[in-house]
Amino acid sequence: MIALLPWLLVLVLGVAVMVLAIKLRRTEEQVAPLEQRYEQTSAELQHYRSLLQHVMESLQDAVMLVTAEGVITSANPAAIRLLGEGLLGRTLLQRTLCYDLNLLLTRCVQTQRPQHAELQISHPQTRTVFVRILPLPTAPDAAESTYLVVLTDISELRRLEQIRSDFVANVSHELRTPLASIRANAEALLESPPDDPAIQQRFLNTIVHQTERLTRMTEDLLVLAKAEARPVPQVQKVKLHSVLRPLLDQVRPQAEEAKVSLNVDVPADFTICAQRDHLEQILWNLIDNAIKYNRPGGQVFVRAVKHPDSSEIIIEDTGIGIPHEHLERVFERFYRVDKARSRARGGTGLGLSIVKHLVEAHGGRVWVESEMNVGSRFGVVFPDTCPQPKESNSAS
Ligand SMILES: Nc1ncnc2c1ncn2[C@@H]1O[C@H](COP(=O)(O)OP(=O)(O)O)[C@@H](O)[C@H]1O
Ligand SMILES: [Mg+2]
Repeated sequence: MIALLPWLLVLVLGVAVMVLAIKLRRTEEQVAPLEQRYEQTSAELQHYRSLLQHVMESLQDAVMLVTAEGVITSANPAAIRLLGEGLLGRTLLQRTLCYDLNLLLTRCVQTQRPQHAELQISHPQTRTVFVRILPLPTAPDAAESTYLVVLTDISELRRLEQIRSDFVANVSHELRTPLASIRANAEALLESPPDDPAIQQRFLNTIVHQTERLTRMTEDLLVLAKAEARPVPQVQKVKLHSVLRPLLDQVRPQAEEAKVSLNVDVPADFTICAQRDHLEQILWNLIDNAIKYNRPGGQVFVRAVKHPDSSEIIIEDTGIGIPHEHLERVFERFYRVDKARSRARGGTGLGLSIVKHLVEAHGGRVWVESEMNVGSRFGVVFPDTCPQPKESNSAS
């Protein structure tokens, strides 16, 4: 019996080892899919994290995560573009100096409801922003709650709205003046003695004059609207002389009346890549101004200069000049240095803005130099971008 004891022990141990081995095998079989799930889940997590990062980076809106005290804990590149570098760890108030934004966050923290408002921030740059702040669900192990702040920069939108409303106000004002004059003169005509043709003639002349002004204004507004729509002009090689010749014939009586002489110094074969009627419109406006804002005995010069990749036309006059502080603004719609003088000469205040829009639609640029009581010089530069080297049929 004693001799069998070691064998028995070995047998028991052997069985125990086998049972353990089977259990280990089973455990391994159970753990393997768990490991696989773990790897799969962490890969998915990584994928979603990089997706989220891509989304945040590609957003045009500034997106930030902040604490209830407004400390920024995360910011996307748009937020850095709007509020500058070094956002993390700083508060919204420190970065924007906008108390209303801070107030909006406080309201969101207190009510735990989304808040939104349009605000003006003045730091680090003055911008109009639409702000949305919402509380985010708190993670179970998070020490404090987090808020999502989204800032949409709407400065450009508001600026365009302002330009549009100024434009509408200007147009109504400009139209109202001649309309009021037409009405007043028509009423006076009605009440005038029927047997006084001289008086009637005077009232009728004013009515005709004001009607012409209204017509010019509506025509200019139409040209401007078309120029602003910026359809790509169908450019062709146009001989400058072929446009200048009829144009100068047209303005010559006006120049003679104003005692202004016209001088052209343009090589016979000088060409411009432009849409013909646009070029006419541009030159007419500049030459008309050079005559209108000139003085008796004054001069107008038209010159042309070829550059390596562009062609430039310069219209210079020896007129009244433009005060330095107005130079930047003369290309704005309805901007006139001397309203009375412009109106008296039939101006609408739209000519130079038409010139600017048309030249820019060609990919070109305009410039101006002026000295009071000496004269002004306007330049238009057209890139040499003709599609075909052959001359247009209409160019002569
Ligand atoms: N050659 C010039 N010399 C002096 N002032 C000019 C000249 N061209 C334009 N200006 C000024 O710029 C303003 C805007 O010009 P423009 O847009 O053509 O309007 P308009 O001629 O109808 O008044 C003019 O009212 C005038 O005050
Ligand atoms: Mg003009």
